[in-house]
Amino acid sequence: MKPSLRDMRFSDIPEVVKHDREILGHSLGEETLTSELEENPFAHYYLLEDEDTKAFLGMISMWIDTPTAQILNVYVLPEYRRQGFGKQLMNFMMQLVKSYEVNEITLEVRPSNLKAISMYQSFGFEPVAIRHGYYENGEDAYLMYKRM
Ligand SMILES: CC(C)(COP(=O)(O)OP(=O)(O)OC[C@H]1O[C@@H](n2cnc3c(N)ncnc32)[C@H](O)[C@@H]1OP(=O)(O)O)[C@@H](O)C(=O)NCCC(=O)NCCS
Repeated sequence: MKPSLRDMRFSDIPEVVKHDREILGHSLGEETLTSELEENPFAHYYLLEDEDTKAFLGMISMWIDTPTAQILNVYVLPEYRRQGFGKQLMNFMMQLVKSYEVNEITLEVRPSNLKAISMYQSFGFEPVAIRHGYYENGEDAYLMYKRM
């Protein structure tokens, strides 16, 4: 396998929406993702794929509005987890934000999502606040923050 990162394209949108819904339980949907790619200068969406088979391995998305950035989503398909791909996506994004001279990154995560919290903490993110009832099911979110 040759994992490789690339920009998300319009033709990827239907597959991304499908994985968003299966993995995250929700998606911005085709229309919003199209306008993200087409019109939003702050939006950065990348896919991790196997260069050999073109299989979709995972994705990361972010808004960068220097000097701040916000991670929107990061996920790896279940069958490819625990092989370092989550870290690869995060490392890529860390390099990207450095090149934009970002000095603060935030993200929201469910307090029950211990795997993701552990990954974010290993990249220096800390929970700094609780957003009460943030998710559709009423679950709170941790606001996690990293100073670069
Ligand atoms: C979180 C996620 C992206 C990690 O992807 P992954 O490819 O399995 O991650 P990696 O193999 O690179 O591991 C990165 C770190 O994540 C954490 N982690 C991943 N799986 C874990 C598990 N089963 N138990 C505990 N920690 C875990 C660890 O900190 C790990 O670092 P380590 O290997 O040094 O212990 C993946 O589990 C996922 O897609 N989850 C569903 C989507 C999601 O929750 N996204 C975040 C939304 S805010």
